[in-house]
Order: sequence, then structure tokens, then C-alpha cells
Amino acid sequence: MANRLAGKVVIITGGTKGIGKGIAYMAAGEGAKVVISGRNAADGERVTEEIRSSYGAEAHFVQGDIGSEEGCRRLIAQTVERFGRVDGLVNNAGIFPRGTMLATTEELYDSIFAVNAKAPFFCSKYAIEAMQSTGGGSIVHMGSTHGYKGGFNLAAYGCSKGMLRTLSRHIAAHYAKDQIRSNWVTVGWVASEGEIELHENMGSSLGDLQERAKTAVPSGRMQTAEDMAYGVVYLLSDESNQVTGSELAIAGGLNM
Ligand SMILES: NC(=O)c1ccc[n+]([C@@H]2O[C@H](COP(=O)([O-])OP(=O)(O)OC[C@H]3O[C@@H](n4cnc5c(N)ncnc54)[C@H](OP(=O)(O)O)[C@@H]3O)[C@@H](O)[C@H]2O)c1
Repeated sequence: MANRLAGKVVIITGGTKGIGKGIAYMAAGEGAKVVISGRNAADGERVTEEIRSSYGAEAHFVQGDIGSEEGCRRLIAQTVERFGRVDGLVNNAGIFPRGTMLATTEELYDSIFAVNAKAPFFCSKYAIEAMQSTGGGSIVHMGSTHGYKGGFNLAAYGCSKGMLRTLSRHIAAHYAKDQIRSNWVTVGWVASEGEIELHENMGSSLGDLQERAKTAVPSGRMQTAEDMAYGVVYLLSDESNQVTGSELAIAGGLNM
């Protein structure tokens, strides 16, 4: 570890599981003070304890649903209260229930958009305010190959990621003058807790997914949370200080 995030305060939404947890660990290993959010308190306490004991880094967990403006405002406010500033925000929390366009109810659509679109918008809003007061920062959005047109069975999900992609470009275009950067990561296919649970409910084991990935993913395997974290840490670090409005595909070719 090279201390590439030394002194930075980084928030990772949905940092209690899966991809977000992997990013939280690597950010802590690179010297960041890490704030994670999620609804499940036990998961949050477990991950913050692991960050303190294994990485010797400061960590804080903010419990709550971020599917409302108030939930997002609270997350950023508690971070500033605890650590005095916000240098990085990773809009990672997301849900991916299946549904074709014809099968999508208003309730399903609203639940997906609350977490995948509204939360990144309002977390970014309050993070930008905090970043403006300290001279800048970096926002990273965890997108998806589905953000371009959406798989047949992921209609609302795909559209929510399309909104996230526009949000990333909007922030990049209009806040570079404040030294605030915004970049999108096209996530490929990761065996996160959420992905495994979803497929187990549909009758497939982790082994089935890994077997499928050998042919479905051009690189021949699923990606890992660490694969994502390498890219995200770069985008949060000063090494990327002239990188904004970009799209980084960490997808083993699934994005092609
Ligand atoms: N896994 C993949 O193959 C894949 C592919 C493409 C894109 N992605 C994207 O990568 C991101 C992370 O996915 P993942 O696979 O790591 O998911 P995951 O394992 O299900 O983890 C999701 C995280 O988000 C949190 N979360 C969910 N709803 C929330 C809410 N309303 N308020 C606050 N926190 C909430 C969860 O914590 P609680 O449950 O405790 O709230 C958890 O920490 C998502 O944006 C997803 O769309 C994943």
C-alpha cells in the first residue's frame, strides 16, 4: 500500500457489503479516513471494526436508508461533524431486482430509482457543498454495463444507471471550476453478497455463476471487489487530479 489517500476523508455509500466493502478496505489501506453507510447496523459495525483492527485507519458507520434527500443530508453532515471535511464520495449503494419493462410496477421502479438515482443525486449535492468549502474533491459513481441500454430483465435498473451516468457528466461539466471531479466506473459482474443472494433465490449457486462467467465474460471470469477498488482508489487519489467526466470500464470486456 502506497498511502495514496493519506489524510483524505472518503465516504462509500453501501460500504457494508460487496463492492463497497472492498473499496472501503482498500481506501483504508491507502490511508483514508473512511465513512460507510448502509441500513444493517451489524454489518456496519463489523466492517468499521475490521478497518480499525486490520488497517489501523479511522472509520465511521452511518446507519440509515439513503433513498431520501434527508438520508443523504444526514450522511454528509455526520461525516463533516466527525472528520471536518469530505474529500471523496463513492456513490456505490445500489439494488438490482429483476423486471422486464412490461413487468415493472410503479412501486418497483420507485424503489430502484430511490437508491440508484435519487441517493447519488442528493449525496452528491451535499458532498459538493462540503467540497466547495475545502477546495475540491472527487466523486465516483459505480455504474454498470446495463447503464447503456439495460438487459431485457433489468429495465428500471438499466434506466437508473443511465441517470447516474448523466449525473456523473453533469457534475464533471459544471464543478471542475471548483476542483471537484466526477467519474463513472462501468462495473462488470461481481460475486457480491447481493449478487449471490439474488441468484441463489433464482436457483443458481456461486459455482454456477463462476462456471457461466467462463464463457459469458470475455476475460473468462467474474470481477472481484478488489478489481473495482483499484480503479476507484485511483479516481479518488491525486494521481487522477486531471481526470473528470471519464468512464472506466472494469468489466473484463463485458462492456463491449
Ligand atoms: N455485483 C455486480 O455484478 C454489479 C454489476 C454492475 C453494477 N453493480 C453496482 O455496484 C454497486 C454495488 O453492488 P453490490 O453488488 O456490491 O451490492 P450488494 O452486495 O447488494 O451491496 C449493496 C450495498 O448497498 C447498501 N444499500 C442498499 N440499499 C440501501 C439503502 N436504501 N440505503 C443505504 N444503503 C443501501 C447495502 O447495505 P444494507 O443492505 O445494509 O442497506 C450494501 O452495503 C451497485 O450500485 C450495483 O448496481 C454491481
